[in-house]
Amino acid sequence: MVGLLLLLLLLPFVLYVAAPQIRKMLASGVCTSTIQLPGKVAVVTGANSGIGKETAKDLAQRGARVYLACRDVQKGELVAKEIQAMTGNQQVLARKLDLSDTKSIRAFAKDFLAEEKHLHILINNAGVMMCPYSKTADGFESHFGVNHLGHFLLTHLLLQKLKESAPSRVVNVSSLAHHLGKIHFHNLHGEKFYHSGLAYCNSKLANILFTQELARRLKGSGVTTYSVHPGTVQSELVRHSLFMRWMWKLFSFFIKTPQQGAQTSLYCALTEGLEILSGKHFSDCHVAWVSSQARNETIARRLWDVSCDLLGLPMD
Ligand SMILES: *[C@@H]1O[C@H](CO)[C@@H](O)[C@H](O)[C@H]1NC(C)=O
Ligand SMILES: *[C@@H]1O[C@H](CO)[C@@H](O)[C@H](O)[C@H]1NC(C)=O
Repeated sequence: MVGLLLLLLLLPFVLYVAAPQIRKMLASGVCTSTIQLPGKVAVVTGANSGIGKETAKDLAQRGARVYLACRDVQKGELVAKEIQAMTGNQQVLARKLDLSDTKSIRAFAKDFLAEEKHLHILINNAGVMMCPYSKTADGFESHFGVNHLGHFLLTHLLLQKLKESAPSRVVNVSSLAHHLGKIHFHNLHGEKFYHSGLAYCNSKLANILFTQELARRLKGSGVTTYSVHPGTVQSELVRHSLFMRWMWKLFSFFIKTPQQGAQTSLYCALTEGLEILSGKHFSDCHVAWVSSQARNETIARRLWDVSCDLLGLPMD
């Protein structure tokens, strides 16, 4: 009893002393690639804050032309200016993309395809987390609609350009949270039951399943795909949950900065020779374990077909 009490009293102290070490451990995984990207074109979704912004900044620093695809294009313009000033790269462009509206996605893709000859790097980074039950413009549940279907459609529309620009890469920002996810084919839009946390996990599982299915389908095309867990990162993702915002505050010391959170996306986008690991999931710049659901090819195929169906796309 006394021992336990003592332990409880000591714990904060031990944590305090060990914090720098723990923090360093949690921040492990740095993209050390020195590759430069002059003449390369990249699109980053959700690039006006957090990890997306840091990812875009790094790509700009390496000389790529970077499109910031943002829901709030005015904010995007400001961020584009900021990155231009910081990196000296003027080719940072903000474009409107609202992933919760297939019309907006189609409009973005149409303009992009007309404007650009190439696309070498697509980073599907934008996402919503734990929002109250809501639907997208097309009637999809928001997590499933934005995190999964929105990026599915975007990737689909840009795929030909990616193929023509090969070697090219698609990086999907997923999450460790996928371990709690399950694809409920009879309840994809949360109409039978809904939990905002689980809806998030499910959509992140969908990201991983898609990465694998896409990798299978793209074999030999020169386009490779990766999904990443960025780590636990300070970002606006938690804006919808008071509880999560408190947790984030409480543990802020152990949480990665957006810049550290961007490292695994960058690692997958840039590291030479990574092609043989297409379809894999990465965390801290290493291949990471995924749940058994996330490895199930039957589920991946079915989800692919259902998604095509929902979006009115041809199945192949
Ligand atoms: C990324 O996720 C989206 C949505 O789940 C999917 O459509 C797309 O194929 C995925 N791409 C990659 C490279 O994983
Ligand atoms: C994949 O999922 C299906 C449907 O849930 C299940 O019937 C099947 O046994 C799973 N396959 C593997 C290899 O786990």
